[in-house]
Amino acid sequence: MKQYTKSDLITLLNAQGNDYEALMKDALDVKKSEIGNVIYLRGLIEYSNICRKNCFYCGVRKDNKSNTLYQLTDDEVYQCADLAMKLGYGSLAIQSGERNDRKFTDKIAELVYNIKKRSNGTLGITLSCGEQTQDVYKQWFEAGAHRYLLRIETSTKALYYKIHPQDAIHCFETRLASLETLLSLGYQVGTGVMIGLPFQTVEHLADDLLFFKRLNVAMVGMGPFIPHQETPLWQYHTQIPDVETRMQLTLKMIATLRLLMPKINIVAATANQTLYEDGREQAVLAGANIIMPNLTPNKYREQYLIYPDKACVGDKPMQCSFCLMGRMKSINHRIVYNQWGDSKAFTEQESIIH
Ligand code: SAM
Ligand code: SF4
Ligand code: FES
Repeated sequence: MKQYTKSDLITLLNAQGNDYEALMKDALDVKKSEIGNVIYLRGLIEYSNICRKNCFYCGVRKDNKSNTLYQLTDDEVYQCADLAMKLGYGSLAIQSGERNDRKFTDKIAELVYNIKKRSNGTLGITLSCGEQTQDVYKQWFEAGAHRYLLRIETSTKALYYKIHPQDAIHCFETRLASLETLLSLGYQVGTGVMIGLPFQTVEHLADDLLFFKRLNVAMVGMGPFIPHQETPLWQYHTQIPDVETRMQLTLKMIATLRLLMPKINIVAATANQTLYEDGREQAVLAGANIIMPNLTPNKYREQYLIYPDKACVGDKPMQCSFCLMGRMKSINHRIVYNQWGDSKAFTEQESIIH
């Protein structure tokens, strides 16, 4: 397989015109031959917007007092799981603001365990509930979660501290250590970054791609940064790349990553659809193979505004399901139902180890 240097990656990320078209075509060809023109789904449950952190970019941050705080009831979570099964979504992703109190961590374990039980083990479960201790990650793994998504946000430490407060609970080393712990416990680990952040350069993004490769992650979820008015990074919103440039850069990141790690799962983030109506289709055509349709009860969606103008906030899950089917068909992709959709990179590695 071709080895990519940092300078190769920078060249790809700077591609314009014919070079840009060639990159998109190559990435789509690689996806087609390595995993096929197929899409796997993760029904997304935005469990709670209560968060102990204050990331400078995120609307769910603790100090944004304009949100009404919520947490789904157990029944609401189980209804989402039942809906996922009914719609043929093979996997769930439970995402939440970060909390590390015992009441929360035990509740997540209980929910995971019960979802596994009521689905006879058929639903795959991805968690994305931030940084936790090794014991908690282990407890959740043993309860039945087998994938974990924790974006590094940026792999450059100096940039990390421009987008987070520099204190004990926003620690770059802890985030890295959390990823290592998740990998050591046997999770299929996903990470990712935001694209088009203030102060971010193409060199930073090339380092991010090399970081994903070095960690050998099974999944990457990355999307454009979307400034939120109630957050500290809003002050730079006129200084970041414009919408078209951010979208193109996101697509180039996806396509380059597909060349670098042909068999991994790559998410077509909902944030893409906030920038362009067909943003997720564009991401799929650039090499992404995972979509996360929202299952959160509509009454809570307005309160989980990590960034403004999120797609599908007013749509019912059934509508999204039909809509997605049509959208993927229109770009010659097939949605695979009732399967976990594990990363081929991960399953092949496992079969070598065992
Ligand atoms: N609290 C968990 C965490 O931070 O890992 C999971 C939920 S968090 C809302 C999920 C992701 O949303 C973050 O990893 C971040 O990359 C993304 N996000 C937050 N604010 C954003 C923004 N303004 N634009 C784009 N993505 C954003
Ligand atoms: Fe909390 Fe995650 Fe948002 Fe940071 S990105 S404020 S941890 S929800
Ligand atoms: Fe939600 Fe189209 S995917 S309405």
